[in-house]
Amino acid sequence: MELLRTLLFVPGNRPDMIVKARSQPTDALVLDLEDAVIPTEKATARRLVKEALPRLEVKDKLVFVRVNSFASGLAEDDLRAVVCPGLDGISLPKGESPADIEKLDRLLLSLERERGLPMGRLQVIPWIESARAVLDARLIAGASPRVVALAFGAEDFTIDMGIPRSQEGFEVLWARSQVAVAARAARVKALDTPYMNFRDNEGLLRETRLVRQLGFGGKFVIHPSQIETVHQVFVPTAAEVEEAKRIVAAFAEAAAKGMGAVALDGRVVDIPIVERARRLLALAEGLRTGEGEAEATEGKETP
Ligand code: GLV
Ligand code: MG
Repeated sequence: MELLRTLLFVPGNRPDMIVKARSQPTDALVLDLEDAVIPTEKATARRLVKEALPRLEVKDKLVFVRVNSFASGLAEDDLRAVVCPGLDGISLPKGESPADIEKLDRLLLSLERERGLPMGRLQVIPWIESARAVLDARLIAGASPRVVALAFGAEDFTIDMGIPRSQEGFEVLWARSQVAVAARAARVKALDTPYMNFRDNEGLLRETRLVRQLGFGGKFVIHPSQIETVHQVFVPTAAEVEEAKRIVAAFAEAAAKGMGAVALDGRVVDIPIVERARRLLALAEGLRTGEGEAEATEGKETP
């Protein structure tokens, strides 16, 4: 499966930024028709994205469009404008239930059919950004085989909850964790909300490390300067790889003597610990060879 460590947002009504974004070293572009675009610019953004897509011709990254929500009444027209061969998927904001994803699935299928595109090829990334969606996240992830990832939207989530937003993000910790667990249960990726303070690289690094710990595999970025910081967090460090190799070696030695656990640096290494080390090495190897995350994709649930 393709890597999705960074997904760079570009406002749909800024063709200059869309052109520049093509050469950024991000794993995916997200041309935004939703909250980066004010209501009076919606029609212009839709037209500009429709015109830009066939000309993008990027081979090294995926191209998504974040359409407007179904509740806005704009989603159907957005979809009709943007479904074309240059598009890899749709990001759906403010999806509230599995029924929203099923509806999107049907609309995409009919557009794929009408336009002679391979059926079922377009991917879907639903935003989980309300209390209801957080609670139903696993069902939303499993509502269509098109869903490749869940996106956690902290800004809209805190609006829905009626709570203040802080730099540290304690107020979203439970919901964020729930999205990561739900995504994993459905064998799709978890993608974290963008870090809005784009001049604060330290803060971005801290937050990205935290969400990697929680189970996220990638993060939306709102500025090219954030890409490198996020990428470095989602690649196992040299120290982690080194430690994993030592764990695997120590365990192999113990197993050869018929033992299921061994002490290493004053800690016990048993089967789950060695399994985690093996997975980390497989991830590092997949990243090195460009094969992506073999482990993370096994056994995706189909509804
Ligand atoms: C992103 O869409 C957010 O609401 O945080
Ligand atoms: Mg949002």
